[in-house]
Amino acid sequence: MRHETQPSTGPLILGIETSCDETAAAVVASGVNVLSNIVASQHSLHERYRGVVPEIASRAHLERILPVIHLALSEANLAAADVDAVAVGHRPGLIGSLLVGVSAAKALAWSLEVPIIGVDHVEAHLHAGLLNAEPISYPAMGLVVSGGHTSIYLIHAPGDLQVLGRTIDDAVGEAYDKVGSILELGYPGGPEVDRLAAHGDASAFDFPIGLPERDNLNFSFSGLKTAVLYAVKGVPAAPNRPDFRREVAEMTPRRRADIAASFQRCAVAALVRKLGRAVELQPVRSILVGGGVSANSRLRQELGERFGGLDLRLPAMEFCVDNAAMIAGAAAGRLDRGKVDGWDLSAHATSGAA
Ligand code: KG4
Ligand code: ZN
Repeated sequence: MRHETQPSTGPLILGIETSCDETAAAVVASGVNVLSNIVASQHSLHERYRGVVPEIASRAHLERILPVIHLALSEANLAAADVDAVAVGHRPGLIGSLLVGVSAAKALAWSLEVPIIGVDHVEAHLHAGLLNAEPISYPAMGLVVSGGHTSIYLIHAPGDLQVLGRTIDDAVGEAYDKVGSILELGYPGGPEVDRLAAHGDASAFDFPIGLPERDNLNFSFSGLKTAVLYAVKGVPAAPNRPDFRREVAEMTPRRRADIAASFQRCAVAALVRKLGRAVELQPVRSILVGGGVSANSRLRQELGERFGGLDLRLPAMEFCVDNAAMIAGAAAGRLDRGKVDGWDLSAHATSGAA
């Protein structure tokens, strides 16, 4: 994406993101105006393993990080010396992958003599709906739905998050990927399940929707995932249930689509229901949604129907999955407040916000 016009005010931040299997760099002005957003996906490298192989990921980041940074600068019509700060996703993620981004960011910031800002990837996902958009009013509710996290936050102010609920087992994106694998779809499974679900009957299977209690804002997706497994492979025999039916109906294209659609109905229902309850308990005027699953067609539609009366921010599709524009954008507030990091900034596998 190329932007011909650049705003005259506000800092220019170069963002770097290497937490998982996307090598990304972006330039964002004033925290919101995205001047470039480059993402080199590694999906083809990990596809045959049906999951990210950490060592392959770190090596691929090493090969790609410099060309990706160069491209981000040239697409923004900038030289490295024009940048006011370098921001990097330094947690959570695969430690070897994070280290590549953190080392590149430090080297660049040090040589340019500009500040370095370490950004929490989960918090950054909540910034995605603010990119190329108007500011929102706080407090806001936040929903992060990614491959590693599924959490609801009360956001008092940018960077000031309070966790109200989180998954107690699988993240929703992880459940999507596992269901994609069970249904023998391509990798990653989330977008494939979404596509297949469009051809199925969402009421064909009565799968469970986890943790129905109204006052519990946590999520659980492992029961739903197991129900899909049993619908496809049959219920395994066990000593306490020797007469359980093991055989299942033949897997036809119709049945596969019905299972995908029914799974998607239940996964989305859990997200919308808990977010609705959170907003009842803590009234807010705005909702920020982020993470790869915010690209999901049914989730976007149901959120729009349910929360249309609020200032609901669904990220543009290019900012849903991992990208560096959200990292650069989330860093701008920190730079404003002078909360930059030192050269001892390190990578961490876990989130400070989850
Ligand atoms: O935010 P993200 O790019 O990486 C993490 O921080 O984890 O999210 C990736 C997740 C994957 O599980 C992927 O299958 C899922 O987002 N995803 C989707 C869709 N697009 C990506 N899940 C459901 N429907 C989609 N359209
Ligand atoms: Zn992510």
